[in-house]
Amino acid sequence: MCGIVGYVGNKNATSVLIRALKKLEYRGYDSAGIAVYTGEEIVVQKVKGMLKNLSERITGEVIPEGLKGKEYTDYENKLALKTDDFIKGSLGIGHTRWATHGEPSDLNSHPHTNMDGTISIVHNGIIENYAELKAKLQAQGVVFKSQTDTEVVVHLLDQKYKATGDIFKAVIETLHVLEGSYALGVICKNYPDRIIAARKESPLIVGLGQGENFIASDVPAILEHTRDVYYLGERELAVLYNDHVDLFNFEGEKIIKEPSHVEWDMDAATKGGYEHFMIKEIHEQPKGLTDTMRPRIVKDDSGKPVDVFFEENKMDDAWKTADRVVITACGTAYHAGVVAKYAFEKIARMKVDVDVASEFRYRDPILDKKDIFIVISQSGETADTLSALRLAKENGLKVVAITNCVGSTVSREADDVIYTLAGPEIAVASTKAYTTQLLCLYLLAIKAGKLRGTVSEEEATKLLTELEGIPAKIQQILDGKEVIQKFASQQFNKDKIFYIGRQFDSATSLESALKLKEVSYMHSEAFAAGELKHGPIALIDPQTLVVAIASQPALYDKIGSNMVEVKSRGATVLVITQDEKAFEGKTDEVFKIPECSDTLASILTVIPAQLFAYYCAVQRGFDPDKPRNLAKSVTVE
Ligand code: M6R
Repeated sequence: MCGIVGYVGNKNATSVLIRALKKLEYRGYDSAGIAVYTGEEIVVQKVKGMLKNLSERITGEVIPEGLKGKEYTDYENKLALKTDDFIKGSLGIGHTRWATHGEPSDLNSHPHTNMDGTISIVHNGIIENYAELKAKLQAQGVVFKSQTDTEVVVHLLDQKYKATGDIFKAVIETLHVLEGSYALGVICKNYPDRIIAARKESPLIVGLGQGENFIASDVPAILEHTRDVYYLGERELAVLYNDHVDLFNFEGEKIIKEPSHVEWDMDAATKGGYEHFMIKEIHEQPKGLTDTMRPRIVKDDSGKPVDVFFEENKMDDAWKTADRVVITACGTAYHAGVVAKYAFEKIARMKVDVDVASEFRYRDPILDKKDIFIVISQSGETADTLSALRLAKENGLKVVAITNCVGSTVSREADDVIYTLAGPEIAVASTKAYTTQLLCLYLLAIKAGKLRGTVSEEEATKLLTELEGIPAKIQQILDGKEVIQKFASQQFNKDKIFYIGRQFDSATSLESALKLKEVSYMHSEAFAAGELKHGPIALIDPQTLVVAIASQPALYDKIGSNMVEVKSRGATVLVITQDEKAFEGKTDEVFKIPECSDTLASILTVIPAQLFAYYCAVQRGFDPDKPRNLAKSVTVE
């Protein structure tokens, strides 16, 4: 999704903006641009393509071909700094665009300007009533340069400014006309000391520096300058000057809020010696799980884990009386919900419905006020998940959110928030967010089981003790990753990869297949193993790799038969299991996971699948951190 940055201070804004945008690359983009006020005019430079193209356009210098790794990064960085020699000014806004309305092109890139070039804006989100507004503006003689929905905003702003003579009033009046979602950054030639920023349903933060202030779509963009931020709330505005920031609501009334201090540092948002964010984040899972679990597991005086504690614990009574849990999420977070269905049924003996959020709200779902509604979202900004959350609240349900992002919209709108403390997840393919989501869901199921009397003290202690051992077991898998890397180097050219499993393992199959297709572009699908014979087995041929996930001892015989069925039809078979002996003669390769109960094994079985996806992507020459067509945070429906 688009990334926004803005700077007002004493430094040269150009390179500050480009370097800040670089930190937002993970969000996905197809073009980039900046607008800087030079003291005389607003200079706009924008290009289709990557940020390097923007630096090349500004400096007129081209990064030599053939540079790789650090040499390339150093050159790109040097060129970004050099842009200061060409555009001088200490007020500016910048943008990375992920096309929604209009193809990726120079003209459709942001920033957009009014006709006389005195106002410039950047926008993330979608203006839903843009067609109607555009028609009206065109009828009044406004000439549009782009096909974007965003351009209507700057022309409207221009009209309102001309009518009121006050840019702040003009912004407020414009916001009242817009429908849809937006994070906006605005600069105006006649107000060279400030940036005006506004948010509705799209993330935006304000970074508070010394003699300088920033706007950004996400924290990594400003972390090298400051850790003190305001998370702008729904329908809030900020006016940033170099020495202070004023906050307002959409009625133009001043509001006061406390800044937050970002605890994590740049190292957490950089690759820290790994080749890609994805592999770094796979390796961060033991830490992320430990951090997420430590404050939540309650111990008795002897150090024995006895209970689960969540900071925002407002819903104990609801758990006791609820008849059903309804879970909605998208993508990987949805797969965590599918695992949770098995976990809640088994541990808390509760009925669970799991829905893809984009489907949920269109099917007039039957909801009961006694249901507990859980939304899961790494970013906390996914538009479909947010809409599902709002629908649940409209129906009077209490919502528990599981998210990785403090201050995100989901976290603010839910009744109860459980944070996954995974640290920033930069790679588009979700890994550490997924396993920490699973952990929170298991902890929640154990807590619900205790409250409802379906889990004895002894069983709770057993499960919690086992959860405490999970990070070390993941480390063991990571320490043996070369086996997976070697297998990927033999299989990366396969035509089809099918993941099969039963019960908990069928949920892991879904996530494993998604991970592989996202980053390696190999055609992978997941099937409940018993379904093979009802159709998919027709696809099996010697160009097929079948990965069986087998962590449920009671089902070893069943999945073993499925493995034999596909092997005898020419497929290569790999099994991910804690018990290799159970599958002797039925498989070509084994990825062994450490001993683990069948209830909790899903946190382990996914790790080899994540590694396999990563290594296949690298073998095939793709950058796993920036999969084609994908964005980290999907803030449009
Ligand atoms: O931020 P969210 O967890 O709400 O994102 C949901 C999905 O867009 C996300 O999980 C997506 O499927 C990832 N690319 C998976 O790796």
